[in-house]
Amino acid sequence: LVEVTPFLSKEDRPLYVQLYEHIKSEIKEGVIPLGSKLPSIRALSKHLNISNNTISLAYELLREEEYIESKPRSGMYVRKQIEEISLCLDEEISLENLEVAEEEDKKYKYDFHYGSVDSTLFPFKVFNRIANDIYYQNRYELFKYGDPQGEQGFRRELHKYLFTSRGVKCHPEQIVVTSGTQQSLTLLAQLINVEKKGAGFEEPGYNGARIIFENLKAPIIPIKLKEDGVCLRNLYRKNPAFIYVTPSHQFPNGYIMPMDKRFKLIQWACENNSWIIEDDYDSEFKYHGNPLKSIQGMDYNEKVIYLGTFSKSFLPSLRISYMVLPYPLLRRYRESFALYEQTVPRIHQWIIEEFMKTGDWNRHITKMRNIYRKKHIAIMTAIREHFDTAILKVLGKDSGLHLLIKFNGKDEDELINLASQVGVKVYPTSQYWKNKKVDNKGTVLLGFGGLSEKQIKEGIKLLAEVWK
Ligand SMILES: Cc1ncc(COP(=O)(O)O)c(C=O)c1O
Repeated sequence: LVEVTPFLSKEDRPLYVQLYEHIKSEIKEGVIPLGSKLPSIRALSKHLNISNNTISLAYELLREEEYIESKPRSGMYVRKQIEEISLCLDEEISLENLEVAEEEDKKYKYDFHYGSVDSTLFPFKVFNRIANDIYYQNRYELFKYGDPQGEQGFRRELHKYLFTSRGVKCHPEQIVVTSGTQQSLTLLAQLINVEKKGAGFEEPGYNGARIIFENLKAPIIPIKLKEDGVCLRNLYRKNPAFIYVTPSHQFPNGYIMPMDKRFKLIQWACENNSWIIEDDYDSEFKYHGNPLKSIQGMDYNEKVIYLGTFSKSFLPSLRISYMVLPYPLLRRYRESFALYEQTVPRIHQWIIEEFMKTGDWNRHITKMRNIYRKKHIAIMTAIREHFDTAILKVLGKDSGLHLLIKFNGKDEDELINLASQVGVKVYPTSQYWKNKKVDNKGTVLLGFGGLSEKQIKEGIKLLAEVWK
């Protein structure tokens, strides 16, 4: 019989995990020899002064991983042969790559990353409380698959929110919950026949959306942009199967599409039997005036597919997005995807549902809007203070979590390299063009959601010093 005397800390991880890890490492190091008998559950419990249950859980883990085996009426034995699982990774290569990536990140003191959101005010307490309550109350439901289109209660709350905040007119049954805008588009791409007429995209536009259709070999039709959104003349001439637009905050240029253009777009879709895909990704954050109603809410002809996400307003890592399908597409969706299971965990949908029901969601959005408004003022003030506005133009300055700086006299690479020399990371915009144009020269993107006001001010000051 071997001796098992681990050091167990009360404050650390669960005791059974500590015990399991201790025995496992003793077996691997040969301290506990192969084939030897382990103490019985009762004996070890007495020896270590911990419960039978703890010992039995630790033994169970070891047995599941085949370190030990149970012999009937005899006890637990260390297996005679333990085959280590060998990783197929070439360790040296993967380690080298990791090191490079870490170094890259460390170099930047101020990272104007576009996808970052403010984490300091995330309602962890409420989130935890809701999650704990749900785990406790719905323990058995958690073992089951959920509704393939998304949890019904969640979709009901979402429907109320979309109606009141964005004027979206729909029934909860038209909402499909997805794990990201790209998943929404991947499904949509299969519902819309784009082969003949092609897929229309804003030029420049969100490359994360365009790539979905490029990968499916759909003909991509870039539609030029004007200061108020897509150029209608260009659209009428090219007449794609659909147009993907970001009207509340054009990505990346930041234009807000006016009402009359929204109506004209709907008219075009009706006359040509085309679709409008409206991506309303960061509509919550408009800093001047009231947000304009969604195009979906203005359409009575079922021509608009509305896309939304929780990535900007809540947490990008949660991966919760959704689409609102007009009935003709909903019917097609149900025919084609009836067997597709929901990909967003039920628990996360329940948490957000509860969050919305209690009013915490609206409070969170209001709080975040105020925070981002202050950051937006900080970045605009710093730009005005440190730059000569004659050589620089700021695009998209009324809403969202990013803006573009168009700089006269330096190109994109030069601006990025100079910024990186002073520890500031700014981002290129050329990849947002399907066909690279000269007029994007010298334009870089700055996301400000993840930086504090102080960091924003210091970062802009440094940029002004090197971009002189
Ligand atoms: C235009 C646009 N749409 C949608 C998203 C969000 O995508 P997701 O819902 O996959 O997080 C982003 C994020 O960067 C975006 O820029």
